[in-house]
Amino acid sequence: MSKKKVFIVFEGIEGSGKTLHSKRLFQNLKKNNISTIRIREPGGSAKSEKIRKLILNEKNNNLHPLTDTLLYLSARNENIQTNFKKFYRKKIIICDRFSDSTIAYQHYGMGIKRKIISLVNKEIIEKYKPDFTFLMVVNVNKIRSRLNKRKKLNRYDKFNLNFYKKVQKGFIKIAKNNKSKYMIINSNNDFKDNHNLVKEKVKKLISK
Ligand code: TMP
Repeated sequence: MSKKKVFIVFEGIEGSGKTLHSKRLFQNLKKNNISTIRIREPGGSAKSEKIRKLILNEKNNNLHPLTDTLLYLSARNENIQTNFKKFYRKKIIICDRFSDSTIAYQHYGMGIKRKIISLVNKEIIEKYKPDFTFLMVVNVNKIRSRLNKRKKLNRYDKFNLNFYKKVQKGFIKIAKNNKSKYMIINSNNDFKDNHNLVKEKVKKLISK
């Protein structure tokens, strides 16, 4: 089916529901025979999945924040070099996290200088900028119980809630700075209602 091959990103802190929304959207587009790929960051390609393992491996939790930052950026570069060079504007790309995660987590959360991240991001991303981003926000005080239900904990899952508050505030700042390209979705509301908002927006984005 001929549809505009947009690049869509889902962002948000852990437990915000972004992965479920991105998976549902992917399934829905596929069901309608719309050419789509779904990738995640860090990860997406075989090499960047290796970098993901390195970053998220529990044993590496003591990596210096700048090392961390550079690894997230390295994983992104591998993702761009493989997936984006191949599929950009050929398929709809749904990405679970992208460059805003690095600004939100590494700058707003960990205090790494924004200009370093922005400079490297710009060099890596080139023309492959998201057309639209859905930012899922949650009541941070409620995510603890959601995260406790997960079998596997992420490295930040162990950080305190203040860290997540800083990261989410960072995401919201980024979104409010460029309102036409973001939709902020309150994940405390009903999932189905929220997903309808996502589907409606995507329908508009992909219609020629
Ligand atoms: P996930 O929970 O969406 O699988 O993401 C994995 C972790 O990586 C999550 O804790 C957020 C973190 N992350 C960053 O800190 N910076 C980044 O640039 C990206 C893409 C992810």
